[in-house]
Amino acid sequence: MKFESKYSVTVNRIKSNIIRELLKTATAEGIISFGGGIPDPETFPVEKLSKIANDVIMNEYKVALQYGSTEGDPELIKQYIRLLKKYEDIHCLNEENIMITTGSQQALFILGTVFLDEDSYCAVSKPIYLGAGSAFNQRNPNYISIPLEKDGMNLDILESELKKLEKEGKIDKFKFVYTVSNFHNPAGITLSLEKRKKLIELAEKYDFIIIEDDPYGALRFEGEKLPSIFKLNEGKRVILLNTFSKVLSPGLRIGVIIANEELIRKMVLAKQGMDLCSSTLTQRIAARFMEKHDLFEEIQPTIKLYKEKKDKFMEALDKYLGDIEDIEWIHPEGGLFSWIILPEGFDTMEMFEIAKEKKIIYIPGETFYVEEPERNTMRVSFCLPSFEELEEGTKRLRETIEEYAKKKGINLKIK
Ligand SMILES: Cc1ncc(COP(=O)(O)O)c(C=O)c1O
Repeated sequence: MKFESKYSVTVNRIKSNIIRELLKTATAEGIISFGGGIPDPETFPVEKLSKIANDVIMNEYKVALQYGSTEGDPELIKQYIRLLKKYEDIHCLNEENIMITTGSQQALFILGTVFLDEDSYCAVSKPIYLGAGSAFNQRNPNYISIPLEKDGMNLDILESELKKLEKEGKIDKFKFVYTVSNFHNPAGITLSLEKRKKLIELAEKYDFIIIEDDPYGALRFEGEKLPSIFKLNEGKRVILLNTFSKVLSPGLRIGVIIANEELIRKMVLAKQGMDLCSSTLTQRIAARFMEKHDLFEEIQPTIKLYKEKKDKFMEALDKYLGDIEDIEWIHPEGGLFSWIILPEGFDTMEMFEIAKEKKIIYIPGETFYVEEPERNTMRVSFCLPSFEELEEGTKRLRETIEEYAKKKGINLKIK
């Protein structure tokens, strides 16, 4: 049978996930990978989790092996409200403000379903978290891509775009701004306090929702912790997304949506048709884990390790790339990523072939754009390579850059 004529317009729009394709090549012997945005498995609390998992299956199987409510396990919701009070100083929540999802990725998909039609507009950062692009693309909305500066989205550009929509009589089609507030994926950037407040002002003036996606906030290793946009706005028009993926384990597939109760009710309707409920087993394991252990205390050694790796990586970047003119990189204060911007003329996707020969992997920046990409960029993660590999990998990155420049006739200016 020929299947082509049967496919939906939506599925034909989906491109394969380039990161997954690229990472397939990351397993060969001797490869140093700056590619994966995944936690180091050695940091998973294996013993504690296995004991709790065993107890949950033996003693709570009537709940943990059964279907659960779409909203999520009440025990987990209770624990999460407690955590938000303690660590985020958010006190305005009850059970109706929370929904558990199958990872934050599902939350993004749900939000696309709840808010976006083909004639809708939403603003996203440029670059954008690839998974958000994939989730929203399924609704085929109009994007307004806002460049990132060192302190987050350029809000002057956002406002001028909003004014344009207002003039054209389309502002009611503008639904939300999507932002990764802390240690952005892929760019490593944090939205400053001033910009958080300004974004809320704009949201009030132009009547839109803010989606604050924050998987990395708990992984701050330096600098001052900032209040969430949700906290600053007391949740009036902000939807906060959290996940267990970077603080406990991505395999549990647990995300958390925190929002106004009316919005949560709509999201519950959208989720019902997707999976009825998220895994009751992993939710109950996470709930019991949080009851016995302090989630954020548990990850302190991991954060310490990430900071040491970040410092080592920044040192290596200075050593091996610091003398090249017109090259920049982000110094993250937390999370897993830095973002390198090479001089004009570089195409990091094309350069990837040379990188593979040199046995290093990074993620070419062009994968992180919903519109015209900036091809001279790359995402680099420092959390998985060892200290020696961070040094050696950065040295090989220098060689890769030099070889590509030579091949393309780019004059690499040295300071
Ligand atoms: C910004 C951002 N949002 C959402 C997700 C999805 O996370 P989850 O594992 O909770 O689905 C990720 C994963 O890397 C991410 O970086």
